[in-house]
Amino acid sequence: MAIKVAIAGLGRIGQIHLENLLQLKEVEVVGATDPMAESLKFAELRGVNCYSTYDALLDESACEAVVICSPTDTHAIYSILAAKKGKHIFCEKPLDLSLQKVQEVVEVVQQHQTKLMLGFNRRFDEEFMKVKAHTDQGSIGEVHIVKITSRDPKAPPAEYIAHSGGIFLDMSIHDFDMARFIVGKEVVKVFAQGCVRIDPEIGKAGDLDTAIIQLTFSDDTIAVIDNSRQAVYGYDQRLEVFGSLGMVKAENRTKDQHELFTSNGVSSALPEYFFLERYANAYKNEMRSFIKHLAEGSEISPNALDGLQSLKIGLAAKLSVAENRSVWLDEITS
Ligand SMILES: NC(=O)c1ccc[n+]([C@@H]2O[C@H](COP(=O)([O-])OP(=O)(O)OC[C@H]3O[C@@H](n4cnc5c(N)ncnc54)[C@H](O)[C@@H]3O)[C@@H](O)[C@H]2O)c1
Repeated sequence: MAIKVAIAGLGRIGQIHLENLLQLKEVEVVGATDPMAESLKFAELRGVNCYSTYDALLDESACEAVVICSPTDTHAIYSILAAKKGKHIFCEKPLDLSLQKVQEVVEVVQQHQTKLMLGFNRRFDEEFMKVKAHTDQGSIGEVHIVKITSRDPKAPPAEYIAHSGGIFLDMSIHDFDMARFIVGKEVVKVFAQGCVRIDPEIGKAGDLDTAIIQLTFSDDTIAVIDNSRQAVYGYDQRLEVFGSLGMVKAENRTKDQHELFTSNGVSSALPEYFFLERYANAYKNEMRSFIKHLAEGSEISPNALDGLQSLKIGLAAKLSVAENRSVWLDEITS
């Protein structure tokens, strides 16, 4: 029997998830909500029942699971409300910007024995999955260094920055999760450096647009993350894992694969523009994985605890920049 799924929030990412849910034969989409009529129309046009509030969606749609794609400040409260009503949850990242609230979500989900999957979609990118598989199979021996390059094509407007939680909690959080995913151990120490090199308005909003973060794991593996809010050539997403027996890496995905060689040099297509293009398949794979785990009743990953760990790393990175020092992860208690 199909799993009944409802969705809250139909902006950029909500529309992608709704389209992907509608493609899955194991799913019946039973409802949607969004306070903006224009956004809700996206669901209406696809024959989905619409509800005026999140409470009505949970109470009246008979959903067994809810996909939360509304703004970040609703994620924790929406997850808690759903868990208390025994609904399973897919929640977009981040769960919240406050450690206390994320801890509360972790506890409520555990108490009510519901499943929560967090939208760290990059774990479901086919190339990164191959890197992970080689790392786990021992193809490159013992892992020593992980290098992640993660640069956006264009900086968001300063109004967005002001509510985003800052570069570490909004953007680098995906990379913290990727580093944990690849290494399979916990981070113990964080050193971060950051500055404003792209847009002074980002600085005025209290944020950074350029950063390097170094993570030390419990087994001494080191990860280096390189973030920029603006790479003029497109969405730069690369991953390299170096170990005692070799190296495995995933390069950028380009729109097409051919290269032109002339007397002027060699040219090829730019990296795919941004996350909607680059991770289109990853979003499909993550939703398939969510539904598969619900159908099988198996352990879901990434989950709320993964969200908590990545948030702690982000808070440690903020503190590291503020105090210009390495921060132990166990210093992050609030
Ligand atoms: N995993 C990813 O790659 C990824 C990518 C983009 C965004 N996100 C996350 O997804 C969330 C949404 O981002 P977006 O880019 O789609 O934003 P968006 O602004 O495009 O869309 C948000 C939508 O939520 C609706 N909304 C506002 N308040 C609501 C409420 N109380 N209940 C239900 N809906 C409400 C808005 O009307 C809008 O349609 C953010 O938390 C963001 O961090 C994740």
